[in-house]
Amino acid sequence: MTGQSLTMQILHREGLARIGRFKTDHGYVDTPNIMPVINPNLRTIPIDTMKKFGTQAIITNSYIIRRNQDLKDEALKNGLHSLIGFDGTIMTDSGTFQSYVYGGVEYENRDTVEFQIDIKSDISTILDIFSTPSDSHEKARLAVDETHKRFEEIKDIAKSHNISGPIQGSIYRDLRRRSAKLMSDTDASYLPIGGVVPLLEQYKYSNLVDIILESKLASDFSKPVHLFGGGHPMFMGMAVLLGVDMFDSASYVKYARDDRLLYTEGTRYLADVTELPYWSPLNERFTIKEIKSLEEKERYSILAEHNLFAIFQELSEIRERIRENTLWQYIESKSRSHPSLYSAFKRILTHSKRIEPYFELYRKSPLFHFGTETNRSPYGIRLKKLEPEKGTYSTLSSREWKPARLSQDFVRNVYEKSEENFCINWYGLKIPVEMEEIYPVEQVISGYEKETKGTLFRRDNGYEKVRNFNLEKLRRVADFQFGKGNGKSIFPDDCKITVSKATGRIRTISRNDSILATMRAHDGFIGLTFEGGLKLHEVSKGMNNRVMVTRESATYNSQGKSVFFKFVEQNDMGIIPLNDVLVVDPDDSLIAVGRAMVSGREMRMYKDGVAVTINHHIQETTS
Ligand code: GUN
Repeated sequence: MTGQSLTMQILHREGLARIGRFKTDHGYVDTPNIMPVINPNLRTIPIDTMKKFGTQAIITNSYIIRRNQDLKDEALKNGLHSLIGFDGTIMTDSGTFQSYVYGGVEYENRDTVEFQIDIKSDISTILDIFSTPSDSHEKARLAVDETHKRFEEIKDIAKSHNISGPIQGSIYRDLRRRSAKLMSDTDASYLPIGGVVPLLEQYKYSNLVDIILESKLASDFSKPVHLFGGGHPMFMGMAVLLGVDMFDSASYVKYARDDRLLYTEGTRYLADVTELPYWSPLNERFTIKEIKSLEEKERYSILAEHNLFAIFQELSEIRERIRENTLWQYIESKSRSHPSLYSAFKRILTHSKRIEPYFELYRKSPLFHFGTETNRSPYGIRLKKLEPEKGTYSTLSSREWKPARLSQDFVRNVYEKSEENFCINWYGLKIPVEMEEIYPVEQVISGYEKETKGTLFRRDNGYEKVRNFNLEKLRRVADFQFGKGNGKSIFPDDCKITVSKATGRIRTISRNDSILATMRAHDGFIGLTFEGGLKLHEVSKGMNNRVMVTRESATYNSQGKSVFFKFVEQNDMGIIPLNDVLVVDPDDSLIAVGRAMVSGREMRMYKDGVAVTINHHIQETTS
């Protein structure tokens, strides 16, 4: 065993959802992913079939192995991987769940962990205390603290082995936060959310939303988060949206033994099924009639195969959704497939304000606007913050503004001849007209055809031009990206704005022959040059807009090389993922301007990977 850590490397993200990978002694595990539960006494599906479906890791129970003399001897002699016949990552559970079901187990915490190490588990689990959803606050608190104590008991082992530290706390949000914080601060390299099986079985997804979110937000983001028992494809996408990376599940076998087929939106009894879904791996080998006539053992094994495939298919869709940044939309539409999912989705909306800081400045895909619920989503909440106070603005009619189409007549003959605040009516939200191009104001798809109400302004040529729309737009967008009031300092009155001949839109902004910034066509945001960065650096105080790196890192970053997480010393906690940031050395000298890959809150949690990609750097301008 090497000195261990399962530190997450992030490859793609959407808010709290992430595609990443971690490594054990038996290879990489790409996340989000599932560990099928393997009972060493009962083999339902051949390992090769599991691998073919995409299994990179499995979970088995060390308690079951230890209690069976033959399994125990074999595991101690040749190791767990030989016993199971699997060369990928194997996680072991401790017997906690059995303790919960049967009211106790005969082993102690420390020797339970030692046994898992002896049989060469890649990720071992302490004997945590399962807190049930019906526990009192007092009882659940004791479970949280005892679980933490049990981790402390084996902390010497955790220095050199991967130990998972379950987060408990029943349905109590404060206890989940406490548990997540306590476990994150230990050497636990893996954080499963425990005690949730009863809630999953009862479809109590709203409770799960609260539990997962509290656990996730208080946890160390560099550690993989696992949902114990959460492998039903119906809920996996929502769990991933809330930051879960890994699942385990015996459901593929359990449902098979109950003669049920798993679908991404629920289950069906075999007896009720007339057609196999087109994607089922069973199609090549059986007709539904043949499956129904198989004898029990074979039938269970065949159904388990179908069920496991359904889980992997859903995971593949979830990962694809994260890559294209449409997971939120996917969950929103999927939530209509079951009332419990819909109420859970509405519960997520009540947390939008807390998760908004983790959402990227812009996304690859346009926002699908479904209705008032979209206004309560993280991007809706972000835009709502832009709403001016009532009574301080006038609203345009939809004849003057539709997404991506602001009337130039309005700009030249009304806006520029007035000092008034004007807003556009964005599906009920009042957004300052200067923000017309930013994501998702312009990058939106909706099915509404109704004209939005507002005032249609008549041209009035009697007045003088008193302001420049493009300059006001730049300053507003800069205020949003870099802090209120900074727009005016970065873009003084004498800056020069060039616009695209084809579209009339702002392209570059310069002053004294040097370019300060560009405005991106695809998301309507500002990209700073090094000169622009110098201006922002001059006016923004403290840690604002900054990522401060070690002196050693600064040398590399000044040549245009990316900032790695491990070299970040301090940073602005309010950084929005994918926004431009100032990279400074420990003396606060500007080294480079780049794009933050994660939010300010996450930046000092990760250990592996790129924190900031550099767009412009100091040596470029001096050479
Ligand atoms: N399996 C399902 N739930 C749990 C849990 O809370 N703890 C452990 N160790 N295993 C589980």
